Amino acid sequence: MQVFILVALFGVGLAQHDPHTKKGRTAIVHLFEWRWADIAAECERFLAPNGFGGVQISPPNEHIVLDQPWRPWWQRYQPISYNLCSRSGSEEELKDMITRCNNVGVNIYVDAVINHMCGSGGGKGTHSSCGSWFDAGKRNFPSVPYSSLDFNDQKCNTGSGEIENYGDASQVRDCRLSSLLDLALEKEYVRGKVADYMNKLIDMGVAGFRVDACKHMWPGDLAAVYGRLHNLNTKWFPRDSRPFIYQEVIDLGGEPITSREYFHLGRVTEFKYGGKLGTVFRKWSGEKLCYTRNWGEGWGFMPNDKALVFIDNHDNQRGHGAGGASIITFWDSRLYKMAVGYMLAHPYGVARVMSSFRWDRHFVDGKDQNDWIGPPSHANGSTKPVPINPDQTCGDGWVCEHRWRQIKNMVIFRNVVNGQPHSNWWDNQHNQVAFGRGNRGFIVFNNDDWALDVTLYTGMPGGTYCDVISGQKEGNRCTGKQISVGSDGRAHFRISNTDEDPFVAIHAESKL
Ligand SMILES: *[C@@H]1O[C@H](CO)[C@@H](O)[C@H](O)[C@H]1NC(C)=O
Repeated sequence: MQVFILVALFGVGLAQHDPHTKKGRTAIVHLFEWRWADIAAECERFLAPNGFGGVQISPPNEHIVLDQPWRPWWQRYQPISYNLCSRSGSEEELKDMITRCNNVGVNIYVDAVINHMCGSGGGKGTHSSCGSWFDAGKRNFPSVPYSSLDFNDQKCNTGSGEIENYGDASQVRDCRLSSLLDLALEKEYVRGKVADYMNKLIDMGVAGFRVDACKHMWPGDLAAVYGRLHNLNTKWFPRDSRPFIYQEVIDLGGEPITSREYFHLGRVTEFKYGGKLGTVFRKWSGEKLCYTRNWGEGWGFMPNDKALVFIDNHDNQRGHGAGGASIITFWDSRLYKMAVGYMLAHPYGVARVMSSFRWDRHFVDGKDQNDWIGPPSHANGSTKPVPINPDQTCGDGWVCEHRWRQIKNMVIFRNVVNGQPHSNWWDNQHNQVAFGRGNRGFIVFNNDDWALDVTLYTGMPGGTYCDVISGQKEGNRCTGKQISVGSDGRAHFRISNTDEDPFVAIHAESKL
């Protein structure tokens, strides 16, 4: 009997680590601040045809609406209730999007903000995305409902009520993060309200959650909430599938709270990954690409089966959160394509691709004064649609990194090589490296200031392959470089350091 229970618990734990992606698809894209109507269309016209496994959506619940500053992106991280109307659209539009994405095999993962409600200075009134009345000062959110009894004000032991010292785990969990009203998740009532919200989304068909601010919640409280979650909707998922959980914990080392405390509950965001890879590609701190031979756990990252990896996220691409200036973003597009390409070629972790909007940066003493600016919007504050240009790029300030040929083709690469080992490593002891994925794919990088000109063993069957970075296979034609692999598996690579994209990738399905 005891053995039986242990096995059952272990099984549940593991299940929450599985993204449940369909048809051999492996990568997730974060369509940051996109409207539900645009995500639905993107699933059908672009994500499914190009093998994307899922979308992380912005928080779908009711949030505060702010004038000072004007409609910042972070207003969506200040919940007012669990009603499903947000800057991205209505409950009906959300439901339509989830259905349409599921129907083409693209999963939806919800950014769940459950640690807190709005800031303590959020005022009172109906300045909320569904128009619900609230009073932040009195801790009154009647449309949940939550009252002052449902917050940690009494439990927090700092004078200011704010987190003052990240060396004290109790403060980090029980006090306010940047003034955000901290929910008392130890209460059955609060756990129930949060679980009801998440279960409503599960029943609508979402595949899981990115859980915001997990460092600021006790693992035991999260276990209690996750334990109440329904299995996924059997219209689209196998019976008994548990929701995929990936938890935002910023652990760069040096604090008492570690990622490890959350491993049994689901995956965890590995913030060391983008910070370190950014340092490597920027060649800062004496780092070289050749040192990434043992990339992954060998670099002190969390276990492979616990990690959710990314080059940048919506916080650190604008200087919030972790990583600082080493983080590479779309603003450094040449390096960015290489770093994202490296991530997608490498087997470590579940990979998430970022898709951003542009804003006017204004640096004063190294800090962007405009780091708050929200998505492209009309004068009345409503988010603009994402228009698709004739060349398939996006307009109106939407960057659509996931549509860049190099990134889109590396998402396909990751699917083609799925399950194959990291193999056939080569490096020049500097910043030229190559590695394969069994006999299904091979990638070569030149991040040195001189040309790469070398013959390498690729592990691939002989034949002519189309490089999916400089172009791609279209019918029987290759629009980019062609790579000839001999019957001995060897191929010659030449990559100029001045190429627009100084890397080359071939895979089994790019064979001509
Ligand atoms: C905001 O303005 C846009 C463009 O003029 C319009 O399409 C939209 O319906 C408006 N939304 C609201 C809520 O008034």
